[in-house]
Amino acid sequence: MPGLSGKRILFGVTGSIAAYKAADWLRSLVKEEAMATVVMTEAAARFVSPLTFSALSGQAVYHDMFDQAPDLVMAHINLSRGADAILVAPATAQTIARLAHGMADNLLSTVILAARIPVVICPAMNSQMLSHPATQDNIRRLASFGYHFVQPGRGELACGEIGDGRLADWDAAREKLLSLFAPDDLKGQTVLITAGPTREALDPARFLSNRSSGKMGFALARTARRRGATVILVAGPVQLPDPPEIEVVHVTTAEEMRRAVMDRAATAHVVVKSAAVADFRPSTYADHKIKKTPQGIQIDLIKNPDILAELGAHRLSGQILVGFAAESRDHAGEGQRKLIEKNVDLMVVNDILGKATGFDVETNQVTLMDREAAVTLPLLSKEETADRIWDKVLQMQNGPPRP
Ligand code: PMT
Repeated sequence: MPGLSGKRILFGVTGSIAAYKAADWLRSLVKEEAMATVVMTEAAARFVSPLTFSALSGQAVYHDMFDQAPDLVMAHINLSRGADAILVAPATAQTIARLAHGMADNLLSTVILAARIPVVICPAMNSQMLSHPATQDNIRRLASFGYHFVQPGRGELACGEIGDGRLADWDAAREKLLSLFAPDDLKGQTVLITAGPTREALDPARFLSNRSSGKMGFALARTARRRGATVILVAGPVQLPDPPEIEVVHVTTAEEMRRAVMDRAATAHVVVKSAAVADFRPSTYADHKIKKTPQGIQIDLIKNPDILAELGAHRLSGQILVGFAAESRDHAGEGQRKLIEKNVDLMVVNDILGKATGFDVETNQVTLMDREAAVTLPLLSKEETADRIWDKVLQMQNGPPRP
């Protein structure tokens, strides 16, 4: 089941001005078909009405420790029973202090103290409160108990100051939750992934490129991070947000991508080249916009460096090299040719003519081709496809060494 769909999240909301953002997070959880139960502190209920959260989740919202409603008997035990994780957002300095010292003086802190499931804390507060040694100590203490933190962002705070303490983006919290439910079988590995197209300029207005959106490469990066890898993502020009906790190197041309990859490849246990690198570039760049002529113009193209072939030619011992083959015909033949010619361990072959495969769609259907066999996967989301590629990489790493 993809994403957070079907996951049961106990969502604690505490008394920060950022509580209004929690309503939006709840919407995102509901949209993704996660089951969210909201527990608010009394202070949170002053910022945003429990009715808002109950309308969004379609469920009762809990905040009173001494409520006598029949479903609330032993609420401090029952609320976390059956939940997969607890998310506290926004988490105030007060709530963090309460949790760090095992205080059970409101419903939320009592529920968390009684729970034995993963807890994700998303702090949001004034930057002075955040940097105060007491708060920092409490955060360290909770981290030592195994609590997970989503770092607050930097920017203008509700008090008008500029600094650290803004509630993180939902994307970062979502990724943290997803990582709780993923195996950490890539932990200890550095993976280098390329994504998106390259652009080869002709003049200040025009360039040569292709239809790659970067979705496949970003899916590989996110899933690898969730599974514990340190991820370096070299991305051509794409319209996707940088994934959290990932080093993203933005490049434009094939030559820039080559440099970025070569500078970092030696640190990588696995390199996955899902970028659609332009094979050619204009031989000259016109400093001024090329004017229309009645007879049209001829563009002279020269070959770009083949980054994957270069990696294959100088492969590092033990490093796994994965290439992608974007094909419109003879998929098996072309995949096999590229596997051998570029000297890679695994070729992921996909069809660029299919409506739901290849460029700029959410799904893909790929054939995983190594030297022994070729296995075609079903049509899957790009994230599910990415997970299957990581499964295959791990299988190759753990299998007998290549002759
Ligand atoms: O980004 P999306 O919209 O999600 O689309 C995904 C995708 C279709 C781009 C992706 O799944 C894919 O197929 N990527 C590889 C595209 C490609 O350039 O294929 P190719 O068959 O031309 O190249 C073979 C391999 O050599 C690729 O790993 C490519 O990164 C690499 N290459 C190619 C040319 C070059 N000059 N340098 C390279 O490293």
